[in-house]
Amino acid sequence: MKKLIALVLVMAMLMSLSACGSSSNEGSNPNGLKTVKSGTLTMGTNAYFPPYEYYEGDKIVGIDAEIAQAVADKLGLELKIEDMEFDSIITAVTTGKVDMGLAGMTVTEERKQNVNFSDSYATGVQAIIVKEDSPIKTADDLANAKMIAVQLGTTGDIYCKDDFGEDHVDEYNRGNDAVMALVSDKVDAVVIDNEPAKSYVAANEGLKILDTEYVKEEYAAAISKDNDGLREAINKALSELKADGTLDKIINKYVKADEAE
Ligand code: ARG
Repeated sequence: MKKLIALVLVMAMLMSLSACGSSSNEGSNPNGLKTVKSGTLTMGTNAYFPPYEYYEGDKIVGIDAEIAQAVADKLGLELKIEDMEFDSIITAVTTGKVDMGLAGMTVTEERKQNVNFSDSYATGVQAIIVKEDSPIKTADDLANAKMIAVQLGTTGDIYCKDDFGEDHVDEYNRGNDAVMALVSDKVDAVVIDNEPAKSYVAANEGLKILDTEYVKEEYAAAISKDNDGLREAINKALSELKADGTLDKIINKYVKADEAE
């Protein structure tokens, strides 16, 4: 009987603990910053997007992971990375599950309705991947594609649906699955950001990237509209990391390693 009471007590404690953890923006820090968890900068990402974020063993590495670590160091916070589907990241930010979305995420007017963005830290290009012998040679030729594969909820997804119609766009949770659909001839092209495109093409025989820039964009961190203090602190950290060359160093490390493959 005593054992049972002890068990019930432990369970009640655990439940109240987890209830605590899920409330939004509760943590405060010595430096006055508000974060989801005291002492921690929690980043939401989708770690299937090399070289920005990807798994090396069970560790998430890449440009965004390293930038986030450098920012967290400057803010005196511990970095915690949460991997989730790309199209859940904005909601995780708005519901206070994570402090920032950092995921090679493009600044768009539509997203700005729900979150604020930090200053931009990198430029991206929507690239088009096709089979080496594909009749698709330009962005306009995508109009002749029966099916284009994209990652769900990305700008590539949005642009392709706008330009070529929903019926011609196949959405995958992960960029890699979109590329696999091309490899197995389920689709005629993949539209995805240029750096991941390069690493997918390097990893799969018979694919190429078209020499055309479908859309150019800016990447930034997504932060809650209720947490401008954090946005300002992140901007300050980013500008210091830009000024002292750290940002370039991180980007060059991964982009070069990528091209050497
Ligand atoms: N830049 C694109 C967008 O913002 C794709 C980003 C995908 N990122 C990822 N980590 N899977 O929509």
